[in-house]
Amino acid sequence: MSTFWSSWIMFLVVFNMGVTFFLFLWGQRVKIPLQPDGTTGHVWAHGTIRESVRKLPTWWVWFSASMFAAGIGYLILYPGFGANKGVLGWTSQGELARDVASNNAKLEPMMERLRTRSVEALSADEEVIDFGRRLFLDNCAACHGRQAHGNQLLGAPSLAAGGWMYGGDGGQLLASIKDGRRGMMPPFAETFDKEGISNLANYVLSLSGARHDARMAAAGQPQFAVCSACHGMDGKGNPALGAPNLTDDIWVHGGDQATIETTISHGRTGTMPSWGPRLGAERAQAVAAWVFANAQGEELARKRNAKK
Ligand code: HEC
Ligand code: HEC
Repeated sequence: MSTFWSSWIMFLVVFNMGVTFFLFLWGQRVKIPLQPDGTTGHVWAHGTIRESVRKLPTWWVWFSASMFAAGIGYLILYPGFGANKGVLGWTSQGELARDVASNNAKLEPMMERLRTRSVEALSADEEVIDFGRRLFLDNCAACHGRQAHGNQLLGAPSLAAGGWMYGGDGGQLLASIKDGRRGMMPPFAETFDKEGISNLANYVLSLSGARHDARMAAAGQPQFAVCSACHGMDGKGNPALGAPNLTDDIWVHGGDQATIETTISHGRTGTMPSWGPRLGAERAQAVAAWVFANAQGEELARKRNAKK
């Protein structure tokens, strides 16, 4: 703070407290002339209320005086009087630093585990999972959904169902989260005419056993050779390219015929931002552990349901 502003604030403080203190003292001593009937002569509400004079209650006077003393005491102890630092040397940055340090000390045992254990091992650590879930809700849920079921409008894949584009083991999850991903499906509107694209879409539908036109799917099958470079001969996808498995019922962008036709005609790109710099190694590890545990949980529930 420059000397000018410091002096200006000191002036305002002295002036304001001075004026109020003067009024306070003056209020005790001032003599107000009284009418013979003991009122000030002021009348209110068409003469129904007449203004009298009362002394301030003693408790109020003492209370106000102690407020002045407290105000001055505060300005001596804490910053407030211009650039004066106060005798306690308190600063908001100092308090924040102390809070952060005490919080870090509390988190340290968990951070140590996050630094030394694998994502798979951490997925059984309840404290880590709870921490990871919070990080997920804060940073990831906007795109992937609160339950990690994905969002087809954004092309953000489900992280719960096990239909991984890039892979669901700890190493792949960490790579996706820390470095981000950029999937690219090229457009084929120039390569195939409308009918060719419909045939291909029906072939894609047939791969997952969805309802399709068998004649069109049969016509599309030979064309799928272009697609198999990325999606594989059997359409089961290629994690190295992020080309999704087309034979399951899990869709990144959508599995109805119209959406599949749009995907084939216009192509698709998906960008997963890189979170390494933002989260740091330990927090990335925690969020990966939550994603892993959550996907395992869903997998178990699905197997249990399938047995029933
Ligand atoms: C160069 C590699 C490549 C080729 C060739 C390719 N794809 Fe893809 N495809 C991808 C990638 C990568 C994605 C995921 C896009 C993303 O990141 O969202 C994808 C996504 C898709 C999807 C969306 C799946 C979903 O879950 O919503 C469909 C459907 C699809 N491709 C069908 C085809 C068909 C049919 C062909 C052939 C005409 C084809 N692809 C050719 C790489 C390719
Ligand atoms: C801006 C939206 C957005 C946010 C925020 C986001 N993601 Fe993603 N994420 C995507 C998209 C889009 C993809 C698919 C990338 C592609 O098409 O190649 C993806 C892909 C992934 C994958 C790969 C999935 C697979 O099938 O292999 C993982 C894992 C993942 N995200 C986890 C996370 C986590 C954890 C966070 C929070 C730290 C997060 N994402 C935040 C949009 C987002």
